[in-house]
Amino acid sequence: MIDSSDILNARILIVDDQAANVRDLKRMLAAAGYTSIAATMDSRTVCKLHRRNRYDIVLLDLQMPDLDGFQIMQGLLEPEVDDFLPILLIAPKPSDKMRALQAGAKDFISKPFDQAEVLMRVHNMLEVRMLHVAAKNYGEFLEQMVDERTATLRDSEELFRQAVEACPSGMVMTDHDGKMVMVNTETERLFGYRRDELLGQPIEILVPSGLRHRHAQHRANFACRPEERRVGGSRELSGLRKDGTEFPVEIGINPIQTGEELLVLSVVVDISERKRIERLKDEFVSTVSHELRTPLTSISGSLGLLVGGGAGKLPETAERLLTIAQANSQRLVRLLNDILDIEKIESGKLAFDLEKIAIRPLIAQAIESIRGFAEGYGVRVRLEAGSDSADVRADSYRLLQVITNLLSNAIKFSPRGQKVTVAIQGDPDTVRISVRDYGPGIPQDFKPRVFEKFAQADTSDARHKGGTGLGLSIVREIVTRMGGQVDFEDAPGGGTIFRVTLPGWKREAAREAGLATEAHGAPLALRKAQLRRSGSRAARGEQRRQYRARNSTAAARPAPFRCRAFAAPAAGSARCISRA
Ligand SMILES: Nc1ncnc2c1ncn2[C@@H]1O[C@H](COP(=O)(O)OP(=O)(O)O)[C@@H](O)[C@H]1O
Ligand SMILES: [Mg+2]
Repeated sequence: MIDSSDILNARILIVDDQAANVRDLKRMLAAAGYTSIAATMDSRTVCKLHRRNRYDIVLLDLQMPDLDGFQIMQGLLEPEVDDFLPILLIAPKPSDKMRALQAGAKDFISKPFDQAEVLMRVHNMLEVRMLHVAAKNYGEFLEQMVDERTATLRDSEELFRQAVEACPSGMVMTDHDGKMVMVNTETERLFGYRRDELLGQPIEILVPSGLRHRHAQHRANFACRPEERRVGGSRELSGLRKDGTEFPVEIGINPIQTGEELLVLSVVVDISERKRIERLKDEFVSTVSHELRTPLTSISGSLGLLVGGGAGKLPETAERLLTIAQANSQRLVRLLNDILDIEKIESGKLAFDLEKIAIRPLIAQAIESIRGFAEGYGVRVRLEAGSDSADVRADSYRLLQVITNLLSNAIKFSPRGQKVTVAIQGDPDTVRISVRDYGPGIPQDFKPRVFEKFAQADTSDARHKGGTGLGLSIVREIVTRMGGQVDFEDAPGGGTIFRVTLPGWKREAAREAGLATEAHGAPLALRKAQLRRSGSRAARGEQRRQYRARNSTAAARPAPFRCRAFAAPAAGSARCISRA
């Protein structure tokens, strides 16, 4: 542990008034390899020398003239000079030995000097001295490290405190009993309490009384399964202020394990402002819906009638102008409908009426309704001859919207004189509808963004074709919500194929029956099946009627814009128009 070179380089002082002793000792030590050996025969200089040179060991003769050896020892062993200086006495008188030992001497050497004894004692004493110094240095190092760590901890605590204080959300830390152990300034502001009124209190004082019971239960559940999560899921949560008023909040909770204890950090966000803006947006959307779309639809319809000769033959210029006006009003209707649909999707208000739908007639209806639009582009749309007949489980209105959207894209991006084909492939599990065009295809770099909102390929051509870039994002949302998928690929020989895959009716019916059996046992499943076969038709008709009544306001459900917007007035299907 102690390097022998350290021992040999130790600073040695010999104090003796007899020159022969000094000489003999010096010679022995030098011969053993010691490099730093000093000596003095003047007893008065000893302490001064030691203060200046800090010796590692002193070989001391107690019988010195002028100063008593014990006084010298006292001077050498003053704690502020050195707290561990080995003093080795040179041949003390037997009567002095005990006193010297008590006064702090560590050992002695006898005379005549025995070289081995001298060297061994000096070496041992120096080794102890070095160990002592090393231990002392290590202790100081540890102390310094502890100081540094403590300072770092203090800094990071301060940093944490500042971060918590700067956080624009309320932060509340609770212990395992649900008592608040830390709150930040924002919590005081949100709930109207002073910090000292909150600390030590149960968190339930911030929860409206109606929710308190459930809150305690949630707390217990969290303790069993502590993990970061949002509280409430889809439920709306409220906070309770000191003055008894409530406000809407969003809460996230995080477990914080400190030693044995599990603390819970709750982050509380006041969402009053967000709610207010949502309300404003809802009001705005419903205003747009009522005040803009309804009259616009009627303008578009009237223009359609005029252009179609409903008011008699028009002068050629008037007809041309009215045709342009009608096309533009239809574009506006489409834009409004897209925006309203996106709004509905985002607010989770898109309603679905899933039922059994025969896919072939529905596709035929979509093709028929878009015929006018296709003719405008000089494009033919047809259903592939080999297409399957199959039933899907879907919302017919929304599925029509999906197909019309894909068809309108395919038509828009087809060269004049080309065709767009629709194919149906069905098996018991899934039904796949493909819409194929012979257009320019989708640019490679745009492919990953095709289904994004407001995304349009950055070609002058795509911009020229108009549209909002919302169509495909609506398509994907609708298809996904009906349990299906939509994708696309480059068509062999040019163009694009968009494919919608939907759950087949048979599979869904079987799944539902299975679920019913699982949940309620066979009798209920049987009864359901019987109902479906027998008089339930009337019931379902009634259900559908109620559904339509519920959704027939312009704000809740857009008019069948694809039919009206794309088809010549006379071509709209009875079914679509009945939903207007
Ligand atoms: N069949 C297609 N052929 C080529 N590009 C297409 C096709 N369908 C969609 N796209 C590209 O995807 C974009 C987004 O389509 P969509 O979401 O329906 O919006 P919009 O039709 O309003 O532009 C289009 O602008 C076009 O760039
Ligand atoms: Mg489109």
